[in-house]
Amino acid sequence: MINQKPCYILAIESSCDDTSAAVLENDRVLSNCIANQSIHEQYGGVVPELASRAHQQNIVPVVDQALQQAGIAKEDLSAIAYTRGPGLLGSLLVGTSFAKSLSLGLQIPLIDVHHMQAHILAHIIDDPRQNKPQFPFLGITVSGGHTQIVRVEDHFEMKEIGTTLDDAIGEAFDKCGKIMGLGYPAGPEIDRRAKEGNPHAFSFPIPKVEGLNVSFSGFKTAVINFIHKHQQKEADFVDKNLNDLCASIQHTLITIIFNKIEKAVVTTGINEIAIGGGVAANSGLRNKLKAQETEKGWTVHLPPFAYTTDNAAMIGIVGYLKYKKERWGSLDQNASARLRF
Ligand code: KG4
Ligand code: ZN
Repeated sequence: MINQKPCYILAIESSCDDTSAAVLENDRVLSNCIANQSIHEQYGGVVPELASRAHQQNIVPVVDQALQQAGIAKEDLSAIAYTRGPGLLGSLLVGTSFAKSLSLGLQIPLIDVHHMQAHILAHIIDDPRQNKPQFPFLGITVSGGHTQIVRVEDHFEMKEIGTTLDDAIGEAFDKCGKIMGLGYPAGPEIDRRAKEGNPHAFSFPIPKVEGLNVSFSGFKTAVINFIHKHQQKEADFVDKNLNDLCASIQHTLITIIFNKIEKAVVTTGINEIAIGGGVAANSGLRNKLKAQETEKGWTVHLPPFAYTTDNAAMIGIVGYLKYKKERWGSLDQNASARLRF
């Protein structure tokens, strides 16, 4: 630590379609504000150009709100942390430019943060609703843009040991939802309806993929073909079977990722699991993982919902950890859509 005074980090997240700002006092969250962009619902997916325009409109009010809720004046801030990537370039640029300008204006350090590292380190936030995982652990990031199994040795030492070869798991939820006429994003509605349906009503193939990688595009094609085939015989097939379809699709998606998590535990010998990303909100996946604590002796960390989907608090915790190590960013660093660990 540079000194013993509390450090106040303003964090900004704008990698996709949510504009978020948070203020942390050391590793505690004082505020975590999010402006969702409903504009994308009518298009059935995020439209990058509209997303960056909405970020521009949202960023000043969201930052103001985060400072006000935290009761912190901008002059009290110690550093500005922002998402450098990966994500949509136009969206990232809004947060990046804002963070750089503010750090320059306030003459305080700028800290660049990797979005996926932040999903994993959200578990390190000091919050009575969660227990911090012990190193090494397996970080599972499941979102609309990513599906990764990561071996986490330390805050800054992470290695991806499994990933998707095509679509992300959240994308698979959303695309299957679109086929069934559900709104965007469909993950939460599939989750809700799955609770009322039979997960074994319909069976879909589990792809065979080498090692710890996964694939969802073959599954998605199987769902499209299955639904079209049935609709030819029965036009209202989806309406009549919606809950069972949701339950069966969710069950298959969870099985695909769970099989690889189980394999990762065996190959690494690490049975401490911490899950992050939007799909970590899925109740089926949460229940399945939690059940392994009694069935297999795993330790499973499920973050509070506020820290699972995209949020700036997770950017702030990485900002704090980097602040302690004086790992500063620089004004020359550009946003990067495909930033690696
Ligand atoms: O992490 P996130 O907010 O944004 C990205 O970085 O992608 O994740 C969004 C994804 C969407 O695909 C959404 O459908 C999915 O998370 N999602 C869910 C649930 N809540 C959000 N998927 C399944 N079940 C849920 N309860
Ligand atoms: Zn994310």
